[in-house]
Amino acid sequence: MEKKFKRTLVTSALPYANGPVHIGHLAGVYVPADIYVRYLRLKGEDVLFIGGSDEHGVPVTIRAKKEGCTPQDVVDRYHNIIKESFEGFGISFDVYSRTTSATHREVASDFFKKLYDEGKFVELESEQYYDEGEQQFLTDRNIKGECPRCHAADAYGDQCEKCGATLSPDELINPYNADSGNPLVKRKTTHWYLPLNDYQQWLEQWILNDHKEWRSNVYGQCKSWLDTGLKPRAVTRDLNWGIPVPVEGAEGKVLYVWFDAPIGYISNTKELLPDTWEKWWKDEDTRLLHFIGKDNIVFHCIVFPSMLKAHGDYILPENVPSNEFLNLEDDKISTSRNWAVWLNEYLVDFPGKQDVLRYVLTANAPETKDNNFTWKDFQARNNNELVAVYGNFVNRALVLTKKYFEGKVPACGELTEYDKGIIDEFVNVKSEVEKLLDQFKFREAQKEAMNLARIGNRYLAETEPWKLAKTDMNRVATILNISLQLVANLAIAFEPFLPFSSKKLRGMLAMETFEWSSLGSLTLMEEGHELGEVGLLFDKIEDDAIQAQLDRLERIKAENAAANYKANPIRENIEFDDFTKLDIRVGTVLECAKVPKASKLLQFKIDDGLEGRTIVSGIAAHFNPEELVGKQVCFVANLAPRTIRGIVSEGMILSAEDNEGKLSLLTVSPEAKPGSEVK
Ligand code: 2FM
Ligand code: ZN
Repeated sequence: MEKKFKRTLVTSALPYANGPVHIGHLAGVYVPADIYVRYLRLKGEDVLFIGGSDEHGVPVTIRAKKEGCTPQDVVDRYHNIIKESFEGFGISFDVYSRTTSATHREVASDFFKKLYDEGKFVELESEQYYDEGEQQFLTDRNIKGECPRCHAADAYGDQCEKCGATLSPDELINPYNADSGNPLVKRKTTHWYLPLNDYQQWLEQWILNDHKEWRSNVYGQCKSWLDTGLKPRAVTRDLNWGIPVPVEGAEGKVLYVWFDAPIGYISNTKELLPDTWEKWWKDEDTRLLHFIGKDNIVFHCIVFPSMLKAHGDYILPENVPSNEFLNLEDDKISTSRNWAVWLNEYLVDFPGKQDVLRYVLTANAPETKDNNFTWKDFQARNNNELVAVYGNFVNRALVLTKKYFEGKVPACGELTEYDKGIIDEFVNVKSEVEKLLDQFKFREAQKEAMNLARIGNRYLAETEPWKLAKTDMNRVATILNISLQLVANLAIAFEPFLPFSSKKLRGMLAMETFEWSSLGSLTLMEEGHELGEVGLLFDKIEDDAIQAQLDRLERIKAENAAANYKANPIRENIEFDDFTKLDIRVGTVLECAKVPKASKLLQFKIDDGLEGRTIVSGIAAHFNPEELVGKQVCFVANLAPRTIRGIVSEGMILSAEDNEGKLSLLTVSPEAKPGSEVK
């Protein structure tokens, strides 16, 4: 038997306050969490929705350095921007606080202290990179050096952005401090570790046995961590931004951001309810749910539960609904590349259209796999679904009521078999939507709610009350009564998903009672009830608004390309004599074909103005061989011949490579004769 809980505590990942939030945040975490919370509230359940900003961590300090301000300035700025964005989209937190709050500092500090006093940590000494000039230890992200794989000069201590390799600082060649540029030395430092290995068995039982119902992406990731075997994890860092480690002799050390951030859920609850917060965190009758993105799974399913278990006073999460990632126009959303739709900008560009984005992000929610957001799809879903289906049905039902019945709900007469069929179809919606929401299947749940509007639209299209108005007003009254009941049902069904539109619609209906339990009812709108003022629920989004967004993304692409280009340093100077050693010539491509069994290679026959020559080039991925025939190309004519796949290659075809690795051939105008020298 499933356990009955008295209350539900919903947390949503605390976003880093080192930049604004974007559609990926909204789609991955906040819209689903908000839908769920609104649904529970509408059902009259006891629920609390906790949010806040995650304000510690290295990225904040990096940003502060870059901007020449303090870390506190950075988080103050972004905390406010983020908070306003969430408010703008109707994310209905009961509290939205921050991890630099006094309450949080105290709660996190006490949490650490208790574990420390009870011997729940292990203390380990290790060697870390240290900048003697700056007198500071460095985190992986603050260390740069030559990539051991591709030899890029500026790979990070955790990753090379050029070749994508995952690295550890120890692998870097000649590591240096990314900020000061100073070379680094190794120095010993002591840290406290949570011995996750001690919790391995318990976690296996708790997750793999007791929580088989978790989403398969979440369960799968946990299983793979557990199968690999857990190791102790450091919960402190050598850094000057964060919550000081509350232990004597730990000067210069702070709690690791991933240790303090999840405790922020507790602190924020305490800040909201100083007297009663404990029942939300320490009572077995509370159901705790963490809404997160997939990069947070290990912290919420393994690390934080182990911390809670070690502490001993707290309940554990019942479920951790985690989404995959959302891409933007087929490319990974990236803050550093500005490849995102920023929520604060959307609110300015599309005023009053918060629900459109909520709708599209839920319709495309990355619930089981990564998904893609495109502006064209955004426009199509607005125009073809919200406007043409939902809005159109509502508008027709209300306008016809105004026209034929002075805006008053007409009486429902005898139902035809057709009416009964339609009614049967829609009364099931409540249980369907409920079932899906209870399983955190928001995408399907919203689709089901939209089906109500489709049913309504079909009903009006098939009964055509505007035609019956001349002959049978009783029938028109019945059709409109049923339609208005449906419209009222839509206002309820969509409230968790599209709260702004539901509110607007309730205004148009002058609808007072409003609870989930009445969903499916045919008597929501009483006979004679007077409607409010009728307007459009949604309006069309025109091409130019979409084009403006696409143009913006094109501009960003170009800016990134330019920035990357600059980042690729020009090589060392050479003497003129060095240059003259290169014999570059113009040639005409006579033949070009793929080299069998070599996917990257093209074999060229070139008219070089002499006897002709063969060149093999590794550019097959970029060109269609047939299209190159007849082209005037440039090639290095005095490169010593090399044998590639048994073919003697006499030279090298020149092409230009952009920073994304895309090639274009170096061509010259057709007048240039084969054999002409390039100087
Ligand atoms: O990934 C992130 O954006 C983290 N700031 C999430 C923290 S969630 C919780 F632990 F606070
Ligand atoms: Zn590399």
